[in-house]
Amino acid sequence: MFITFEGIEGSGKTTQIKRLHKVLKDRKIPCLVTREPGATNIGLQIRAILLNQKNKKMDPLAELFLYLADRCQHMNEKIQPALSKGQWVISDRFWDATVVYQGMARGLQVKLLNQLRPRILDSTWPDKTFLLDLPVNIGLARAWERINHSEESQKESRFEKETKAFHEKIRRGYLTLARKEPERITVIDASLPPDKIHRQIIEVLFD
Ligand code: TMP
Repeated sequence: MFITFEGIEGSGKTTQIKRLHKVLKDRKIPCLVTREPGATNIGLQIRAILLNQKNKKMDPLAELFLYLADRCQHMNEKIQPALSKGQWVISDRFWDATVVYQGMARGLQVKLLNQLRPRILDSTWPDKTFLLDLPVNIGLARAWERINHSEESQKESRFEKETKAFHEKIRRGYLTLARKEPERITVIDASLPPDKIHRQIIEVLFD
């Protein structure tokens, strides 16, 4: 079972992934919790380049290839081995993030992404995706609060510094994907209390 979480900054993915992980552990379901970018040693180095706020002038195609390089490494080192052992994999972001951020928001051709996809993923595709959806104002306020309380993530705020219009595009892009693949992508109102969100996720997975 391959599950991914998507959403704008501050949508609460980390909290929900932790809670789902605990349920899987309690049910003795072997599972890998992972994220993009930065789940491998090489990926961590790529993440540092991608999110460094000094790299404001990054070319959109260069950015795309860095995300894809991170994903190739992630697939081969972590995701494929875990899935072939029968483990569940929960990833904080995956291919949909590239379609929305680099394709729809940065304006790269989604057609190019679709051409590259089989080369990078082969036939691997998430069984279930949770889109934690909420208004951009709320998400960014939460993300900024997190940044202000953590020295570490100060270095990593290139995306939080994007304009509100950019984040609106991201939100709309994710909702468009969800309309195209309603079976796979469940949209959850991320402004609800975390307990309620968690219950919805568990219902979708286990009921
Ligand atoms: P994170 O803050 O959820 O760890 O994600 C890091 C940032 O990278 C986030 O702003 C979304 C962005 N991103 C892309 O632009 N394209 C991608 O393919 C992925 C996986 C993330």
